[in-house]
Amino acid sequence: MKDFNTITYAVEDAIAVITINRPKFLNALNTEVLKELSEAVDLITSDAAIRAVIVTGAGEKAFVAGADIAEMQMKDVLEAREFSSLGNKIFSKLENLQKPVIAAVNGFALGGGCELAMACDIRIAGHQAKFGQPEVGLGIMAGFGGSQRLARLVGAGIAKELLFTGEMVHAERAYAMGLVNQVVDSSEVLDEAKRMAKMIAAKSPLGVSFTKKAVNEGLNLDLERALSLEAELFGALFATKDQTEGMTAFLEKRQAVFKGE
Ligand code: HXC
Repeated sequence: MKDFNTITYAVEDAIAVITINRPKFLNALNTEVLKELSEAVDLITSDAAIRAVIVTGAGEKAFVAGADIAEMQMKDVLEAREFSSLGNKIFSKLENLQKPVIAAVNGFALGGGCELAMACDIRIAGHQAKFGQPEVGLGIMAGFGGSQRLARLVGAGIAKELLFTGEMVHAERAYAMGLVNQVVDSSEVLDEAKRMAKMIAAKSPLGVSFTKKAVNEGLNLDLERALSLEAELFGALFATKDQTEGMTAFLEKRQAVFKGE
């Protein structure tokens, strides 16, 4: 297993867990974290045995408290733009990974941390979790996709409230606005994420990944084109062993064993 400096990476039962690991700095994202996150996503892409991914933060206090302000402070216009582009590229790679990604959020998910959680497919939060885009309080704005993904997830009105005020919201409000899928006891966050990841991992990997593609790409298309994309992907699944196995298993009244082929 590859050694990382600012993240940990573990695979168990077909589930990869990436943990952002700078707890002294509340897991703030510096360039090294972003690059290691990118390498971990590449490892996951090339490992066919992995069926689901969990992204979390080390320690109980934070998922990720944002991009590293000390590192950002030193940047000029060009470097800041490059930093934003680097984060956007890596978060998009995570968002478009052909496997489901669950964010397990304990504590602060602020700025780049909220943006990282939003680049995941599903968010499970602990009761104590707090979400926010506090960048305007630093004289900057969201730069790892927050101005785009937050508006797509919760609607422009609520997104603008969070982005303009910089105020944090508790897990319950984040749930009410559709930013998180589930709120559980803080001690249960990782277990709940693993439970859901296992449930997804038992399903057809091709069915899940084609569904992810249909949702992600469909959101950028008008309805008519999105529906033809769905029909195209639906049809393509009928050339796979997963489809034969899934339907045969149902008719034989047994559990399907999917191979992602
Ligand atoms: C660097 C950070 C950090 C960050 C916390 N730390 N957040 N370091 N970048 N984003 C460090 C603190 O400096 C401190 O280091 C240690 O972590 C513990 O944090 P405290 O502030 O002492 O903890 P606490 O008082 O409990 O406050 C927690 C907090 C606060 C409310 C989360 O840390 C905070 O406001 N952090 C910044 C949140 C933020 O503005 N995030 C958005 C960043 S901009 P020491 O050495 O003092 O112990 C962003 C842009 C993304 O994300 C797009 C880029 C292109």
